Amino acid sequence: MTPLPRHLLPDTAEISGGGRLSIGGRDLVELAGEFGTPLFVYDEDHLRARCREAVAAFGDGASYAAKAFLCRAMARLVHEEGMGIDVASGGELHVALAAGVPAARLVLHGNNKSEAELARALDVGVGRIVIDSDDELDRIEALVAAGATPPQVLVRVTPGVEAHTHVYVMTGQADSKFGFGLASGAAAAAVARATASPAVELVGVHAHIGSNVFLLSSFTQAVDVLADFVVPLGLPELSLGGGLGVAYVEGEQAPSITDWGAVLSKACAEAGITARISAEPGRAISAGAALTLYTVGTIKALDGIRTYLAVDGGMSDNPRPVLYGSGYEAFLPRATDAERPRAVRVVGKHCESGDVVVADARLPADVAVGDVLATPVTGAYGHSMASNYNKVTRPAVVFVSGGDARVVVRRESLDDLLRLDS
Ligand code: LLP
Repeated sequence: MTPLPRHLLPDTAEISGGGRLSIGGRDLVELAGEFGTPLFVYDEDHLRARCREAVAAFGDGASYAAKAFLCRAMARLVHEEGMGIDVASGGELHVALAAGVPAARLVLHGNNKSEAELARALDVGVGRIVIDSDDELDRIEALVAAGATPPQVLVRVTPGVEAHTHVYVMTGQADSKFGFGLASGAAAAAVARATASPAVELVGVHAHIGSNVFLLSSFTQAVDVLADFVVPLGLPELSLGGGLGVAYVEGEQAPSITDWGAVLSKACAEAGITARISAEPGRAISAGAALTLYTVGTIKALDGIRTYLAVDGGMSDNPRPVLYGSGYEAFLPRATDAERPRAVRVVGKHCESGDVVVADARLPADVAVGDVLATPVTGAYGHSMASNYNKVTRPAVVFVSGGDARVVVRRESLDDLLRLDS
C-alpha cells in the first residue's frame, strides 16, 4: 500500500508538490518523452558522492568494479573522482583505456584470462594483475620470457567464508572456480610460486567473498580467516574485493561504504594486518544511482488470478529477476508519493513467461496504459548484463546533473542489430 520508500531513490531526487519526481534537476516523465523508453537515468552527483566515499574510506586502494556498469563516461567519472578501476576482461580493459584512464589505475581480474588479454595488459602496463590460476602464471611467464615487463600482481585467495548471499554470486567458499583455496594449501603454493618467479612482482593477496553482502560480519569473518595467512607474508597490499550490498526493496537497509570501510579497517588493525587495504565496490557505487523508465503497454486483469502489466523492456535490460529471483520496487514518477494499493506483476515484452520485472509490484490505483513506470536501484548489473534477446534494442543511458541530461550510451537502433551479420 505504502508509497515508494524515499531511501531507494538517488541522492538528488526531489518530489514536487504534485508528486512528480525529478533527478539531477530533471523531471523523469519529461526525460522519458525526450529520450524514449526504456531508459536508464543515472544521477551523476550520486555516483560521484559514492566514489568520494570510497576514496575517503580506502584512499588510493579504492577501485570501482566496472562489471556493475561501464561506459566511457562512467570510466571517466570514476577516474576523475580518484578511484582506480577493476576490469574483469579484455573488453572492460579496452573501454577503460578508451576512456583515457591511465593503465596504471587499472586492476585486471578474471579466472580465465587469455594470452591476448594478458599480453595487452602487460603491453599497456596495467597497475595490478590478480592471479587466479597456475595456468595464468604460466602464460605471464611466457610473455615475460618473450620480452614483456614483469607486472605487479596479487594472488587471489578463496578464504572459505560463505557470505550470506545468492549462491550464484557467492565466491569466497572453498568450492569455487575463483582463486586459490586457503584451506587446501593451494594459496600458499601460489604465493610461493609467485614469490620465486622473476616474471612477476608479488605485492599482495586478494579475496572477494561474494556480492550483495549485507552483513558486515561476513567481511570481518573473512578478515579473521585471512589474517593468519597474510600477516606472516608481510606483503604490502591486501585487497578485500567488493561485494557490499545495497537496498533494493522496501524493508531492506544496507551499510554505507563509509561503515564498510571503517569496519574493514578496524578488523584488519585488530587482526594485526598492516598491509594497505584496498577494495573494489561495484554495486555500492552504481546501483542506487539509477532508475529504469519504462512505458506501460498493456494491463491484463485475469479474473481471480492476477493482473499482468507489461512494459516495453524486461529481461533484456534487467535479467536479475530471472537469473536470481531479485526483487525490485515499481512506482509511477508522475505520482511518486502516492499510495500503491494495486497489486500487479510487472512483466516485459519478451517471448517467455519468466520475463518478469517485478513479480509482486504495488502501484497506484489509477495506473494506466501509457504511463511512465520506474524501477529504482537498477544502476548495477542491469545495463551491463543487458542483451538483445528477441532482437530488442538495448536502452539508452542518460546522466543527469544540475538540470542537464546527457546521453552517455545511445539507444541501439534496428540497424545496430544487423551490424555484426556478415
Ligand atoms: N571484485 C570482484 C573480484 C568481483 O568478482 C566482483 C563481483 C566485485 C569486485 C564487485 O562486486 P560488487 O561490489 O558489485 O558486489 N551479476 C550479479 C553480481 C555478480 C558480481 C560478480 N563479481 C548481480 O547482478 O547481482
